[in-house]
Amino acid sequence: MDRICEGRVAVVTGAGRGLGRSHALELARRGARVVVNDLGGEPDGTGSDPAVAEAVAEEIRAAGGEAVASGHDVSDSEAARERVQLAVDTFGGLDVLVANAGILRDRTLAGMTDEDWDTVVRVHLRGTFAPSRAAAAYWRDRAKATGAGVDGRLICTTSPVGLYGNFGQTNYIAAKGGIASFTLGAAQELARYGVTANTIAPTAATRLVLALMTDEPPQEFLEKFDPGFVSPVVAWLASPQSSAVTGRVFDVRGNRVALVESWRVGAEILRDEPWDAADLGDVVADLVAKAAPNPDISGYVHD
Ligand SMILES: NC(=O)c1ccc[n+]([C@@H]2O[C@H](COP(=O)([O-])OP(=O)(O)OC[C@H]3O[C@@H](n4cnc5c(N)ncnc54)[C@H](O)[C@@H]3O)[C@@H](O)[C@H]2O)c1
Repeated sequence: MDRICEGRVAVVTGAGRGLGRSHALELARRGARVVVNDLGGEPDGTGSDPAVAEAVAEEIRAAGGEAVASGHDVSDSEAARERVQLAVDTFGGLDVLVANAGILRDRTLAGMTDEDWDTVVRVHLRGTFAPSRAAAAYWRDRAKATGAGVDGRLICTTSPVGLYGNFGQTNYIAAKGGIASFTLGAAQELARYGVTANTIAPTAATRLVLALMTDEPPQEFLEKFDPGFVSPVVAWLASPQSSAVTGRVFDVRGNRVALVESWRVGAEILRDEPWDAADLGDVVADLVAKAAPNPDISGYVHD
């Protein structure tokens, strides 16, 4: 096996289960030393269990790799700084942050509670920001101290629904859409330290998805959407090979890797004087007719 991450040190949040566990195992197989972070909570963010992160760290060690566990809440800023320090103290530095931890509290907009909104936004958005800030500060200080780029990687996790929309998930969609946009800004800022920032939009048969299904999932579904299909993209992004790629969103499901093209100006019209609201009906109808329709939840545009 090609150990394309040999010598790299990675922190993976939410690495106790599902996609994060799969990323951590793949990174370790590819030669990275891994800080396995997971609060060990329920899919809705309640509860905690430090054994969940420890089990994956042990799985990596049992396979001959190097890993250490961290059971903190990903949205805790102080814990995020401590985790960077843990990577430095245990493995000598930090090269890669995979911000992956996530929860769901699905409700329609009219019935959304403040708590369900705030909890989902906290875990996803602050849970991406806090570890990213701690890593960015470490990379900035290293780049200044050495006078050279650090070849770091920030790999965030959005969702197809955060890019294309869905019914009954406005809290999750807002948070995940925010993460995709956050990564664009981070890519611009971190370039000066030799750090790339990209986002993956995965689809995988994990407990978050299975919890939404009323029937037992078919075996074919479980095999087709194994999280293991997504992790090679994360490992490649984590490796030195990806240094030229930044500010991108990868939609990964099964054997398909797709690059998502971002918001951009489509059909437009310009005139010399300001627009009068009364004139806009026909103008907007014409723009809508000329513009590409929004994609559906699959990410594809259908005429
Ligand atoms: N499974 C999919 O199809 C899918 C699709 C789009 C996006 N995602 C995203 O992928 C990521 C991983 O989800 P998954 O599907 O593997 O779910 P999962 O429930 O299997 O794993 C998520 C892990 O994150 C941990 N976690 C949750 N809150 C945490 C916190 N505050 N601090 C630390 N750890 C915490 C959980 O304990 C859990 O082990 C999430 O961000 C999710 O939104 C998943």
